[in-house]
Amino acid sequence: MTTLIINIKELLQVRDSSILKVSGAEMAILPTIKNAYLVIQNGLISDFGSMKDLPNVDPEKCIDADGKMVLPSWCDSHTHIVYAGNREQEFVDRINGLTYEEIANRGGGILNSAKKLNETTEDEIYDQSKARLEEVMRLGTGAVEIKSGYGLTVEGELKILRVIQKLSQNYPITIRATFLGAHAFPLEFKENHKGYIDLIINEMLPEIAKNKLADYIDAFCETSYFTVEETEQIMEAGIRFGLKPKMHVNQFNSIGGIQAGVKYKALSVDHLEIMNAEDIEVLKNTETMPVALPSCSYFLSIPYTPAREMIAAGLPLAIATDYNPGSTPSGNMNFVVATACIKMKMTPEEAINAATINGAYAMGISQTHGSITVGKKANLIITKPIPSYYQLPYAFGSNLIDTVIIEGEIFT
Ligand code: NIG
Ligand code: FE
Repeated sequence: MTTLIINIKELLQVRDSSILKVSGAEMAILPTIKNAYLVIQNGLISDFGSMKDLPNVDPEKCIDADGKMVLPSWCDSHTHIVYAGNREQEFVDRINGLTYEEIANRGGGILNSAKKLNETTEDEIYDQSKARLEEVMRLGTGAVEIKSGYGLTVEGELKILRVIQKLSQNYPITIRATFLGAHAFPLEFKENHKGYIDLIINEMLPEIAKNKLADYIDAFCETSYFTVEETEQIMEAGIRFGLKPKMHVNQFNSIGGIQAGVKYKALSVDHLEIMNAEDIEVLKNTETMPVALPSCSYFLSIPYTPAREMIAAGLPLAIATDYNPGSTPSGNMNFVVATACIKMKMTPEEAINAATINGAYAMGISQTHGSITVGKKANLIITKPIPSYYQLPYAFGSNLIDTVIIEGEIFT
């Protein structure tokens, strides 16, 4: 099956296959081709270029993108979209003055979601999660990482990972699964951290590895959650079972999580709202992608990741949604791109790089996703007619997406 897109006003994020991420000053550059065409064959980008060089192709389908932009679909490298119910009540409690921490300390927060998840059937969780997945696909996401972490029991964690596996089998979007059993200590293990860590290492991990249910291992390294030492134990165990680390660090406190991430060659370290000079320094010249989650900062009214300082230090940066019921009940990457520009002072070019090629890197798929490159997946966004790509972050409340293409097929 061949599809041809013609008259593209501007084709964004055109890259050579050797580029797997962009860092520092390179992030300000977004290579494009004006007045372009693009050919899709069997789900992959097979050719593209300037309209004046349009080759003689005989496509089954032709799309006229006159006035429209085409870009690689968003790569959302950090979500928790498999969960049960919602936490609307906690949202209102926060409006009325309680903090996220106070809510968690009285048994709400992650433990509230874990209770709901363990009381809900696998089929029901699948139905709720697939609605979220379809929503983010309509919003232009073409690859997504999904974490477990709302089970906190052997059965609950496996249930989430099986749902992720089923979503991956039933939808064309690329999915990577992360095991986040170390998301919080269940109440019965509040005074027995070793007991829960043993459960993760001796019961959850072997079962997950045996059934190939996860690609990555994560832990919430934070005061009142997992200490650096506990996190390191879990990362080491995950690595033994073939899972590469991707970690929650520096959301509320800088306690050494980034250093642990670098030590274990984490693919990414995520959140990074609270960063000191040493945290930035230790990320230099590593293969670890820092990931900011601007809609989490927005929803919780906590600091934004200091993107300018990090980019000035030569670091790469990815941005992702963190879609979850407690800190970010939104999976809208368009809002994330806009918020990165508006609140973190990233330029449109930097934000688009962060949400495509660097997002792909942060989920280990930048060989196949995240740029307009011959041989990569034809996962594309075609915008509505817009004056320039600045509109994407500028018109932050508008839906500027006309068509979403996933693996060469029109999804919406
Ligand atoms: O990434 N910070 C840890 N975990 C999630 C939120 C958990 C929750 O409140 O349910 C996050 O923000
Ligand atoms: Fe998260």
